[in-house]
Parts: sequence; structure tokens; C-alpha cells
Amino acid sequence: MSGINQGAAPVTYGVGDRPPRGDYARARADYTCEQAWASYTEADHDTYRRLYARQLQQLQGLACDEFIDAVQQLGAADRIPRFDAITERLLPATGWQIVGVPGLIPEAAFFALLAERRFPVTDWIRQPEEFDYVVEPDVFHDLFGHVPLLFDPTFADYMQAYGRGGLKAGRLDAGELLARLYWYTVEFGLIRTPQGLRAYGAGILSSAGELRHSVQSRAPKRVAFELQRLMRTRYRIDSFQAGYFVIDSFRQLFDATAPEFTPVYAAVRERIAAEGEIEAGVVLPGESEY
Ligand SMILES: [Fe+2]
Repeated sequence: MSGINQGAAPVTYGVGDRPPRGDYARARADYTCEQAWASYTEADHDTYRRLYARQLQQLQGLACDEFIDAVQQLGAADRIPRFDAITERLLPATGWQIVGVPGLIPEAAFFALLAERRFPVTDWIRQPEEFDYVVEPDVFHDLFGHVPLLFDPTFADYMQAYGRGGLKAGRLDAGELLARLYWYTVEFGLIRTPQGLRAYGAGILSSAGELRHSVQSRAPKRVAFELQRLMRTRYRIDSFQAGYFVIDSFRQLFDATAPEFTPVYAAVRERIAAEGEIEAGVVLPGESEY
């Protein structure tokens, strides 16, 4: 299935070489599907409950306030929520809706949904033996990691703008550069606050170990968010991140990514041609670390 996001990247869209997990026969043309809520077993709900509890007790001092304030909007923590119930709260807050998908979906379909303020959430949950690590995003990653920040008006706008940019990037053959932006912000972004660094990326917030690693460990390198620098930077999908980019605010992120990307892609490509890409976890001369 060429063009399908096949899950080489554990938590984001991206091209891989394995077939996607999930039952695509029940998907509509836009890849959305009904959440098969009735087919969740007690064990499925229990997995969700345990994952939620484990993450919740780690959030204080590591997750950004916008996330902590909104996480309760997911509803009861003891069962997998109904997507429609979350949409009832989300739609009046920021105009976003949650839609079910059978798993990873093609990039164009993903971008189109974001551009319509519809966030695709995988409806299956990992097996108990995958409790600590699941290769493809499941309902816990997608809901717990991504949905709380959709209640933040500025971040919500950023996500839609990203989808629109994605539709355009396909035409400009800039998918990889834009995927890096998603990876280092939506999935693995850090934000500077008066209280210190905090995580806002879904890949971090839904991970048992990366939350503390990203914010507090001395091992990874953390540098200021700068769009073109970020787009030159490769990322790793097989371990905790070796490097993170730090934003000052969601407004900064939105504003930095608002201008037309065509000249940005051209500048990045020129720079890559001259100086090469940057490996993850590298601090360049002149850059300061957080
Ligand atoms: Fe994700």
C-alpha cells in the first residue's frame, strides 16, 4: 500500500515498510471510521485506565500547564472515552472534532482532516504486552497525547495551519521537511515557561519514560526553536530523542510557521546542499543549550 503511513515512525505519520495495523475495510473514503466502542473488551478499558493513571501522576512539573488544565476534558479516566463525547466539549471550545480512524492513514488524508479541524484518532488500543511501548499510535497515544492541546485556541490554529501546509507541501515535494516540523513540535516539542522547561509534544506526553528524559535528563540536547534549523535536522524514531527544540509560546510557533513556506523550503534545501543535514542531538556553534 504505497503512500500509506506504515508506522516506521512510532508516533507520527511517516513512510515505513510494514503494512499498517488496523481494519481498513471499515474506513470511509476519507479514512475515517466509526469508533468501534462496543467492541472494546474489559481488558482494553483496563489498559487505558492503567496507561492514563501512569501518565497522569507524572505530569506535574513536566507537562505544560495548558495540557494539564485540559487533560480532564478527555472525560472519565477509567474507560476508553467515546470520541463523540469529547467532540461535544471540543467543538464549542476551539471548533475541532475528533474522528475515528482504523490506524495510520495516508499523509494526504491526514493533512486534509487537520485542515478541516478534524483530528484523526486511532480507535484500537495496544495489547497488554505492549503496555510500555507500541510501535504505531493507538487510541491512548492519539487521545491522551494530542487531544488536550486541541483545547488551546492558539495550538488548535497551529494544527489546522499545519494540515493546510501539508496539503501544499505534497505539491512542492517537501514532505520530509514538513514532517520534521511535526516531529519536533507536535510530537516532541518542549516549551519554556517561567517555571522551567515543560513538554507539550504528544510523543513525550504519552510516553512513560520520555517525559522525564526530555525535560530533566542531562543526556539530550535542547536548543531554541528556529524553523529552518529544525527543518535541516534529522530525527530518530527508535529511541528517546537525542535533541529537542524549545519554543517560547504557542504564539511564537504559530507565527513562525504562518508565512508562505515555498521560500523556506528553497532556503532549507540550499543550506542542506551546501552544509548538509544536521544529526539529531547536535548543538551547533553559537547555539545555547537549555
Ligand atoms: Fe502522534
